[in-house]
Amino acid sequence: MTEFTPLRHLPQANVFRKGDVFVLFGELFGRGYVNGLIDEARKAGMTIVGVTVGRRDDTGALRALTAEELAEAEEKLGGRIINVPLMAGFDMDAPEGEQNPTEMLSGITLKGWQEEKLDWAAVERCREAGVRRFTSSAAAVMAEVDKLVPEGANVFFAHTMAGGIPKIKAFLAIANRIYKGRGERFMSSRALLDSDLGKLILMNFDEVTANTLKYLIDASAPIRERVTRAGGEVRYTAYGYHGTEILIGGEYQWQTYTNYTQGYAKMRLESIAQAAWVQGVPATVFNCPEIRTNSSDIFVGVELSLFPLLSALKKEGGGAWADEQWRICESLLGEGESLQSLLDTIERYNNDATSAHFRNFAAWPMDNTPELADVMIGTSEAITGLHKDKKALITDHLSHLVLEGAGPLMFHGASEKIGPVLWLNHDIIARQLNALHK
Ligand SMILES: NC(=O)c1ccc[n+]([C@@H]2O[C@H](COP(=O)([O-])OP(=O)(O)OC[C@H]3O[C@@H](n4cnc5c(N)ncnc54)[C@H](O)[C@@H]3O)[C@@H](O)[C@H]2O)c1
Repeated sequence: MTEFTPLRHLPQANVFRKGDVFVLFGELFGRGYVNGLIDEARKAGMTIVGVTVGRRDDTGALRALTAEELAEAEEKLGGRIINVPLMAGFDMDAPEGEQNPTEMLSGITLKGWQEEKLDWAAVERCREAGVRRFTSSAAAVMAEVDKLVPEGANVFFAHTMAGGIPKIKAFLAIANRIYKGRGERFMSSRALLDSDLGKLILMNFDEVTANTLKYLIDASAPIRERVTRAGGEVRYTAYGYHGTEILIGGEYQWQTYTNYTQGYAKMRLESIAQAAWVQGVPATVFNCPEIRTNSSDIFVGVELSLFPLLSALKKEGGGAWADEQWRICESLLGEGESLQSLLDTIERYNNDATSAHFRNFAAWPMDNTPELADVMIGTSEAITGLHKDKKALITDHLSHLVLEGAGPLMFHGASEKIGPVLWLNHDIIARQLNALHK
């Protein structure tokens, strides 16, 4: 089990300056966590370089971006993108003439999926084919990145990849039930994990969410060696998730979203950073708070832990700026609704025996239960219903604040080389935000 190692100070160290290179390993989306880190790299005057996961054509084959897609992505990133597809996972990979896992499972149904059996030797051949494809593409990408790193420059590698849900129609329906279903529509995460389908999905999560950090570290070894030989420095960061301390009953307490099926892959990600650290490679996984992004929107209720950030802003010395955040959030609520009463609802939810039962760090990631789904999804829907406009939620505003706070903590925390795994809890996020907006 990973030791709980929260970051409790605001890191000030800075290795990076104009002319250094920031490499984003993953694509940039408008609400994505990595925006906070990229803002810091831009402020430092670094050259930004990105990658693409590629796109699939009508036959499912992976292709590079078209000229138009590339121009659009580069404009959004504010830097050059190496146009070699880096889609991770093996759900669409197979040795020549064999079926890929998506094809193997194309016939599953919402009724029969639990009985579906896979040929594990064939799955393993697909995994190997996927890893071969990814690692050779990663080597090609890094050879291009190498040309963009001037002699004497430092390099920051930011890993942001996570995912791996295969595009199997019946599975998307199953996922909807596991993450969004309650009452009649509830589905047990344990049933999924015990099935062959679930085991395959966990393997794919490992590949996309965890092993890609290892492939990045390996593929960039020539760059790392050249940079360090010239007296420069490299850093690697990745985004983890392993629960977050938030204010409950006026104290910071660790809690988690349940069921976080990707948790096993996130623990593997931690162990990859730990192994690299031991080898002298400064890689840090920053376990970050729950926010709403393109990737997390499927997890209904994941956003509930965001609300107490407002209390943390006050507790951590917040002044006029923190008051302004309260005012902005209150203004998003419908006529007659108060922010304080919403926070009271969250406090009751967190103190409810059903949700409190899941505050068990050692047992993480725990399976979901119908009772939890009921109270979590119920509370989530009730709170969304208090807003003026369902497209302008308090959690949108708070998510943005969290990624803004995480940016400098990761940028300077990586510079300081503190350790391989660090938690960014609401205390330090609030302190960083208050410091930025003094
Ligand atoms: N949103 C949260 O609550 C939260 C909390 C803690 C950590 N994180 C982590 O932060 C990181 C960024 O996620 P985000 O929530 O900002 O969402 P996001 O959707 O903006 O980012 C997801 C990233 O994963 C990449 N990706 C997805 N599938 C991939 C595949 N098959 N192969 C290669 N890359 C793939 C995307 O290109 C993108 O860069 C992830 O590692 C995520 O697990 C998120």
